Parts: sequence; structure tokens; C-alpha cells
Amino acid sequence: MKKKLIQRTISHFETCFGKQPQAIFLSPGRINIIGEHIDYNDGFVLPAAINKYICFAFAKNQGTQCRIQALDLKQSHQLDLNDTLEPIEKMWANYILGVLHQLKEKGLPLNGFDMVFSSTIPIGAGLSSSAALECGVGYALNEIYTLGLSKESIALIGQKAEHTFAGVNCGIMDQFASVFGKKNQVIELDCNTLEHQYHKADFSNHSLLLLDSRVKHAHLTSGYNTRREEVEKGLAIIRSHYPQVSTFRDCTSQMVFSLKETLGETIFNRCHFVVKEIQRVKKAVQAVAVSDFNALGKWMSETHQGLAEEYEVSCPEIDFLVHQALKHPSVLGARMMGGGFGGCSINLVTKGHEDQVIDTISKEYLQHFGIALQPYKVKIAKGTSRYKK
Ligand code: GLA
Repeated sequence: MKKKLIQRTISHFETCFGKQPQAIFLSPGRINIIGEHIDYNDGFVLPAAINKYICFAFAKNQGTQCRIQALDLKQSHQLDLNDTLEPIEKMWANYILGVLHQLKEKGLPLNGFDMVFSSTIPIGAGLSSSAALECGVGYALNEIYTLGLSKESIALIGQKAEHTFAGVNCGIMDQFASVFGKKNQVIELDCNTLEHQYHKADFSNHSLLLLDSRVKHAHLTSGYNTRREEVEKGLAIIRSHYPQVSTFRDCTSQMVFSLKETLGETIFNRCHFVVKEIQRVKKAVQAVAVSDFNALGKWMSETHQGLAEEYEVSCPEIDFLVHQALKHPSVLGARMMGGGFGGCSINLVTKGHEDQVIDTISKEYLQHFGIALQPYKVKIAKGTSRYKK
């Protein structure tokens, strides 16, 4: 699959530009084992890059023109680096324009380029195709124009591009996982300091199975930004009563409960979820460290309940998938993954039982919602990199 992706990207580049690409880059999507909606709340997350990629074929050109071909969408975009860069109607182009804008703002010695990209990361499935696009472009330009950016800067540029050109006030998890991913390693990321540790993704007799609801989300309109505003309001109220609190990390459930009436039902629920989720990730990391998969599964399922009932970012289709999955004795934990409002569920399954789980849930899902379920058996892969034959 990866080889085919690379071949078709190169061949389209040759057709479009009548020359060979100078370099090929791969930028992966991500999964997240636990720690949802807490990257922008100063929590810890446990993501990993996966073997689904956007492939980029790149070459410098002589001028200031950037000629971009989105192979899968059969669309193109051209711009001059001397022009003012602003968000446009073509959403996919905004992720790239946002990165270029950042590089220009930093006064980096950028010049024109020709580029084709193609992807195996499904769009709107919660696997962070947009972060892969932003980080792939940042990484590639950093290499071909020797811009001297660190991996951390590339991730932060990607996140800022999303804020400024896509209008989504996302956290740092997706971009960080895409750039910093390592084969067979999950990343324990402190979203406050960006300090991180790798843990061997050794799930012994278990595997991580993704079930794509095929309900597409777009975080610009999904309610993602509203969630962020709600928790910011909540934190401001908590801090005005508990001056010792700086971030949600310093909050206890008791503090949140003590302000239940002041916060109001919705904001109380959002804040309570965040505080609990921050604690759950810590426990989940310990469970991974001692290979206690029953405990890990339990925390994952508890996260789902919080996301569905308190943070209210799930949807009936994903709730159904999680509910049905947990009926299987071989499923130790299940939850919605990513920003929510659609996308995938992530399931911790006893190895060898994946197909049976897929078969039954596919039938049930089709019967209930009339949608054909899309399963993904993903592997944990390395982060954004230059592809060398
Ligand atoms: C989206 C955002 C991330 C993160 C997740 C939820 O994927 O891009 O920053 O907030 O949702 O955990």
C-alpha cells in the first residue's frame, strides 16, 4: 500500500511537471490510546503515528511560484510567495497556505516549489489527515530549503496553521504525534511543556482495532471550538475561587464539585470530564507499563463514557459501535477517538479475535444505521520523514 502510494505520487509528479521529483516525504496519521480533548487543557496524551500516510513529491523551482497538485482530489492550486497569503475557499489548500504563511512570517529563506501529494489517511475519520498535511509540508520545505527548523517548531507551525487558516483551535497532539512518531512506540506527551517519553507499544496478546463509523466530521463546524471556549470559561471561574490553580492539572474533582452551581450544568460537566481524564491518562500509562491490559481497557471505556455524557462529543453511531464492541468478551476496552462527532472508535481486542469482532459489528451496524463499517488494523509507525529508496 505504501509502495503504491509512493509510485502514484511520483508518477503524477512526472506527468504534471515533466521532471523527476527532488525528494519524497511521508507524513503519517495518528491514533490516540487515551487522553482525549485534554491536549488544549494542559493534560497528558498517549498518541502514536500509524502506517497511513500522505506522500509528497517535491522539487524546488527557480521562481517564487508554488504549484500544488492534490492528486486524490484532482484539484490544484498555484500561488506566488510574494503575494499576501490568506485563507481561501479550497479547504485543503488552507492547511498548506497556513504553513507557508508561518514560514514567511518567520522570515525564512523560502522559494518556489512544485509539489504533488496523495494520501491513504481517510479524511474526516479522526486520524488527523490535516495534521499530516501541515506537518508534511513544513517538514519537506524545512529539508529542501534547509530552513533549520526543529521538529517541535514544525509541529507548532502546523498547529498554528490550523488555528489561523482552518479556523480550528486544536491542541498540539496531532501535529506532535505525526512529526515525533516512532515505530512500535507510543508517545506520552505532556501537552503543557511538550516533554515526552516513548513507551514500547507492546500489547502482547492484544491489538488496537479501529472501526470507522464513516460519519465524517469537520471540526470547524462540529462544536470543537465551542468545547474549548466552555472549558476556558470554566477554568477562569475555578481559578477565581482557587488561586492556587493555574491549569486543569492543578484541579481536583472536589474543587469542581464545590463550584457545581456557579459553573452551571454544561460547564461543570465539561470541567469534570477534563479533570477525570487527566487522572485517567496517568493510570492508563501505569497500566501500559505493567502490561495490565484489563485496566487499560477499563480506563479507555470510562473515557468514552465521559466523552459521550459529559463532554458530549460523541454521536449515536460511535456510541453504538462502542456499546456493541464491549459486548464481546475479547474486547477489553473501547472508545471514540480524536475530536469526535464521528470518525473512528479505538478498541483493545484480544489478538486473533479481531475478524470475529469486525464481522459481527459490521452486520449490526449495517442493520441499524444502513452504513457499511470500515475497519482498520493499523500498525504503529515512524513520524514524518524523507523517504529513501
Ligand atoms: C482533534 C484535535 C486535537 C485534540 C483531539 C481531541 O484531533 O486536533 O488537538 O484536541 O481532537 O483529543
